[in-house]
This record gives sequence, C-alpha cells and structure tokens, in this order.
Amino acid sequence: MKAAQIKKYKKDISLDIVSVDKPVINDNQVLVKTLTAGVNPVDNMIIRGEVKLVVPYKMPLTLGNELVGEIVELGSNVKNFNIGDRIFSRLPLNSIGAFAEYVAIDVDAIAKVPEYLSDEEAAGVPLTALTAMQAFELLNVKEGKTIFISGGSGSFGAMAIPLAKSLGLKVITSGSGANKERVLLLGADKYIDYKKENYLDIVSDVDYVIDTLGGKSLEDQFSILKKGGSLVSLKGLPNKDFAKRNNMSFFKRLLFGFAGRKYDKIASRNNQKYYFIFVHSDGKQLDEVASIFNEKHIKPSIDEVFSFEDINKALNKVDNGSSKGKTIIKF
Ligand SMILES: NC(=O)c1ccc[n+]([C@@H]2O[C@H](COP(=O)([O-])OP(=O)(O)OC[C@H]3O[C@@H](n4cnc5c(N)ncnc54)[C@H](OP(=O)(O)O)[C@@H]3O)[C@@H](O)[C@H]2O)c1
Repeated sequence: MKAAQIKKYKKDISLDIVSVDKPVINDNQVLVKTLTAGVNPVDNMIIRGEVKLVVPYKMPLTLGNELVGEIVELGSNVKNFNIGDRIFSRLPLNSIGAFAEYVAIDVDAIAKVPEYLSDEEAAGVPLTALTAMQAFELLNVKEGKTIFISGGSGSFGAMAIPLAKSLGLKVITSGSGANKERVLLLGADKYIDYKKENYLDIVSDVDYVIDTLGGKSLEDQFSILKKGGSLVSLKGLPNKDFAKRNNMSFFKRLLFGFAGRKYDKIASRNNQKYYFIFVHSDGKQLDEVASIFNEKHIKPSIDEVFSFEDINKALNKVDNGSSKGKTIIKF
C-alpha cells in the first residue's frame, strides 16, 4: 500500500509517498481503509521535530493524525463495530499514520461517523473537536459563562465555536476579516478582526480563554481573563501540570515545569489557572462529539480538498496560514 512518510525530522515540508506493507492488526484493533484525512498544523510541527519532547517518534514515520475510513477487518476482541462501518479517529499519539491507504487503529480510538456528514466534512472533525472537548473539560465550563477563543477563524475555531455554543457558552473570538461572516454563522456572539481592532481594548473579565496563538499573545490573554478564571493554551509551552496529567517521567516534569513556569506565575498573580494541552485520542469522547453533531447538525468548515498525491501541496497550504477551515486529503 502507499503511505506518506519522512525518514528524519527536517525543515522543509515534504513527504515521500512510498510503498509499505499493509498493517497487521492485533486483537484490539480494526483495519481501516482510509477514505479521507484531515491536515493539521501539528503535522508540519511533527515533520520539523517541534513536538519530539512531547511525543518521540521512530523513523521512518507515516504522518497524519486524523481520518475517516471504512472498517475492512476486525480484531477478535472488537465488539460494537462491524466490517463496512464508516468510522473516524484522532489516531493515538504513539501510532499516527493517517496519510496511508490502510491504518490499524485501536478500537478505543474510533467512533462511528454521523451519517449526514460527507467523508470530507467528517475528516476535519476528530482532532479539533477532541481538542475543544478536552479544553472545555479542563476549564470545567458552565452554561451561561463567556469564553474567548483567539484565532477562531481557523480549523480549530470551526469546531470549537459550535461545540461551545452547544454547551451554552457565550463565545467571543478573533480572526482575519475575510472570515467574519462565516464565523458568525458558526454561532460566535462577537468577532474581532485582529488586523483592524485590538481585542485587549474591547474584551475584559471573560470566564475562560482558549489560546491558539502562543507567544506574547498568550501572555496578553491573561489580562482579559477575570480573577480566578482559567486559560488553556494549544500553542504555549507545556508546564508541570501538563507533565503530571500525562504521567510523564520525573525528567519531563522538571523540564516542562521550568518551561511553563512563566505562564504559571502570570496566572497565579490573579488566582488564575494556566493549562497546556496536546490533544489525545479518545473514541468515547469522539462518540459524544458525534451525538452532539447528530443533534445539532453542525456543519464543519472545509477550506480545500486535495488528492493523496498532492499531500505536499496540502501541507504547505496549511503552513502558509489564511485558513478558512479544514484542509482535507481524499484517497
Ligand atoms: N495543542 C493541541 O492539541 C492543538 C490542537 C489543535 C490545534 N492546535 C494549534 O492551534 C493553532 C490553530 O490551529 P488551527 O488548525 O485552527 O490553525 P489554522 O486553521 O491555520 O487557523 C489559524 C487561524 O488563526 C488566525 N490568526 C493568525 N494570527 C492571528 C492573530 N494574531 N489574531 C487572531 N487570529 C489570528 C488565522 O488567520 P489568517 O492567517 O487568515 O490571518 C487563521 O484563520 C495551531 O497552532 C495548531 O497547531 C493545537
């Protein structure tokens, strides 16, 4: 079968499409024929070796973190799924590889795709929807409260905004002007065009923040958070709490404790809490997402669909920004 791989971490965004053996499943896995796969900024970060401290990968590595596929083989312990089921998955961190014609996936990482979603629409759901759900869990969100999501015009916002609305939150978000109407249609209550307005002059005392920007912008976002509020960053630095939650080694607890100390200190000034997350696979939580989708008929935003042969064009598109939603690979 064909798979898109790297042999080592590198600066340029280019995968080689190579022939490899079809995977062999264990008793707790399903073999899936890939139909579509979502492309994410994290794919490019993995190519560049930027997440190797969080997840060390062996080479050669087949890239790709999320997919939609059809089950073609079942492990002997697999219940609740059948051959022919259309499933989606954010693949487990230690066994990614969605950019391949077939993938062996732990049954704990899959869920059935809501029927009303096309293969292309569904491929953009798992990673960003699970990120949003895992962030909401850490924030312990409550109906009626207000959340600020920076950079909500991208593929994360396209999932996080409708999911936040379905939980009864008021959503303020920022992004580029061209995306304003689309994002308001997703349900955002207020949209700030970051090239024309400064959200720091407009927003204050929100209950929760999800930061997608990192760096100086992450530091700034603590100032719009009310005293005692919580911030989850997708782009900042991991801290000790992150290492603990993920049962990391003593060395990584020390390392990340040092790395994220700056943000923990800023947060503690106003009795706020800083969290970093790296989205993990969770079939049960993805099933909850599917139920919300079935109830609310949420429509994912798709930016562009590429063929598998054009995988490098798709990765470079994601790297160049100006996202209007999800970039998808079709097999
Ligand atoms: N830690 C995790 O588990 C996790 C999970 C999912 C995503 N992420 C991270 O979250 C980030 C967003 O992901 P994504 O998939 O949504 O990326 P994306 O599709 O590329 O979207 C990013 C959006 O942010 C907008 N933007 C850029 N600069 C901005 C600014 N200063 N203020 C407000 N908006 C700004 C961009 O607008 P323009 O480019 O059009 O100006 C774009 O629409 C990425 O860094 C990704 O790696 C992390």
